[in-house]
Parts: sequence; C-alpha cells; structure tokens
Amino acid sequence: MPEARKQVAVSGIQASGNLHIGNYIGAIKQFIELQNKYKMFVFVADLHAITVPQDPKKLEAQALDAVYTYLACGLDPEKTTIFVQSHVPQHAELGWILNTITPLGELERMTQFKEKKAGQNVLAGLLNYPTLMAADILLYQPDAVPVGEDQLQHVELARTLARKFNAKFGQTFKEPKALIQKEGARIMGLDDPTKKMSKSAAAASRIELLDGEAEIRRKIKIAVTDSGREIRFNPQMKPAISNLLAIYSNTAAISISELEKKYAGKTYSEFKSDLADALVKTLSPVQKKYKALAKSKESVLKILKNGADAAKDAAELKMHEVRQRVGLLHY
Ligand code: TRP
Repeated sequence: MPEARKQVAVSGIQASGNLHIGNYIGAIKQFIELQNKYKMFVFVADLHAITVPQDPKKLEAQALDAVYTYLACGLDPEKTTIFVQSHVPQHAELGWILNTITPLGELERMTQFKEKKAGQNVLAGLLNYPTLMAADILLYQPDAVPVGEDQLQHVELARTLARKFNAKFGQTFKEPKALIQKEGARIMGLDDPTKKMSKSAAAASRIELLDGEAEIRRKIKIAVTDSGREIRFNPQMKPAISNLLAIYSNTAAISISELEKKYAGKTYSEFKSDLADALVKTLSPVQKKYKALAKSKESVLKILKNGADAAKDAAELKMHEVRQRVGLLHY
C-alpha cells in the first residue's frame, strides 16, 4: 500500500541576533516536536532580516549562529530540511510575483509594518516583507505554518494571496493553516510583562539561550513581579508572574496548574530560584552542543547545502508551474 503523504510544515526564523528563551518556547521547541509528525522545512529568513539595515559581517555570523542554535536544541537534519532562505532563489522570485497581485493598501495595513515604520526611515523591503513571507510558505504547499501569534496576520495574507492567485491564474497554491502554540506562545520581557520578549530590548529583559548559569540566575532574580504574593496564572491581574509561570511550564514540561499547586503558599523568591534551576537544566546541554557545533562549521555548512538542495528541488517544481500560469516565456 502506498504510504499516506506526510503533512508538510514550513517556518522561518529571523537571523537577527542571539536567540532567547522566547524564541525557544514560541518556535524552536515546537519545531522539535513537529518534526516527528510533519515533513518540515525550516529556514533562516536572512532576506527578511535585511528589511531593516544590518551589518553585513554580523548578519552572516548571525545566520550561522541561528543554525547552530536550532541544531543544538534538537532540530534534526535527518528529519527536517534546514536551509538559509537566500540559498533558494525561488523565494525571492515568487515574492516578486506575489507583489504584483497584492494591493498596496493590504501591506500598509499590516500591524508589523505599522509598528516598525514608526519613526524610521522606511524601506520598501519592509512594506513587502509579508509578500516574501507568503512566498516562503506557498512554495512548499504546507498544511501547517507554525508561528508566533504576532505572525498570524502574515499567514492570513499568504492564504489571501493563494486564493487570489488561484482565482486569477488557476488552481496552483494550497491555503495553509497557521499553527499557533497556545499556552505561553508569547513570552514577555522579564523587565516589562506588557512587551514581548525581544532581541532589541535591554539585556536583562530576556534569557538568551547561551546565557551562563550566573547570568540566568541574576536575570531571574531581578525579573519584575506583581503586587501580592500568590503564584497564580492570571495575565490580566498578574502579568509578570504569569509570564514566569509560562516560561517555567515550557522549560520544565510541568503544566501551569501543577506549578500553581506546587507553589501555593511559597514565596516569589523560592519560585524564582526553582525557575532558574529549570532554565539552567534545560539550557546547559543545549550550550554544550552549541559549542561543539560551532567548532565544526564545515559540517554545519554541509547540512545547509544539503538542505538548500532539497528545498530547491521542491521550490522549483512549484515555481515552474507558477511561471507557466503567469505566462512568463519559457523554453
Ligand atoms: N516573519 C517571521 C518572524 O518574524 C519569520 C518568517 C519568515 C516566517 N518567513 C516565514 C515564518 C515563513 C513562517 C513562515 O517570526
């Protein structure tokens, strides 16, 4: 009997700086779980990274760094196609074509664009970020697109563009579904639980995956808490403690309600000290693996080359169809 087609999932991550526990919980951890169920394509979105000015030297190192981190966290090149977006030129090619069917107003209305353009010298690439992302997705005909909540609007646009293209040129693209991790998909800053944990905020606002033990303990110790003393999950009333509970739950694989029970009647400082233990326990094996990988750059580049070759095969199949649908002259 022929094997049922394995479901496909696609996702990308920006190569814009040291990855943190928010990236781990919101994306990487989910990928590690999904790779057993789906045929996954995971790439470093370097073309997206340059929609804001980047230092070329650093950008290259950051892309590689992101790959070391993914591998160290357990992404398995035997199961998942891991590559760099710019190594598969079909992404940019389809991105361009999708731009030609995307109303300007739709892009101007995107929340991320509106946020990022505030006070900046806005580049056209930033406006067109979502069409490139739609291309990233549609090329591989995925069933699922695992993303953080903040990227939901972009996945919706990919669906809209798939429908639009299909209506205009004939059935070509499948409409993918976003896969949002519910509990704790959005990890907030340690210094301000109203802002998403981010690479661009103060260092003490996040636990980076490569932070040493002392650093982790220090940051957790100074993380803001809420008034009152109970350790309860209630993002409205207790945003800071709820965020720490989400981090704890996701790193130690203990449910939030179990944690609430465990810490009933305990102090914030006991809770924080155990949370720091859990983070150290999760991150130290990752850091060991990371260091080993960083010493064998050549073998990691080989993984990326193999990944790009496999991704190109899949992407070219779809692109060939797209060029014909659009009516681009071919041999
Ligand atoms: N924009 C995504 C982010 O910032 C990264 C990304 C780029 C992506 N292309 C993608 C995610 C395609 C999913 C699918 O997180």
